[in-house]
Amino acid sequence: MTNNREKLCHINELNDPGAKGFEITRNGLELAFFIVKKDNQVYGYQNKCPHAGINLEWRPDDFLDMDKALIQCSVHGALFQIESGDCVAGPCNGNNLQPVQLEVEQNGDIFLSP
Ligand code: FES
Repeated sequence: MTNNREKLCHINELNDPGAKGFEITRNGLELAFFIVKKDNQVYGYQNKCPHAGINLEWRPDDFLDMDKALIQCSVHGALFQIESGDCVAGPCNGNNLQPVQLEVEQNGDIFLSP
């Protein structure tokens, strides 16, 4: 069986709520994304704001608002639901972050799906 999943980290490496950014190269393409942990669930999104197409964080791994209730773009302040990636406020209201598929093993290891 071929297994080309990429291990990203262990679920215990993330605060709850918390986030972590990644940049990997797959098939010659650079992929920037981040994962968010909330209520012991993890969600993955491309690190690309639908407003201007640029990275969301202003410092490494800082993707959440002050209350850690929503994902926040640091550039113009758009806010996104952690669970769905839907924008709920800001200049891209009505758009959404593009999800990336994650797999969480029973031992807590998190992988990027092939
Ligand atoms: S670039 Fe994200 S809100 Fe403008």
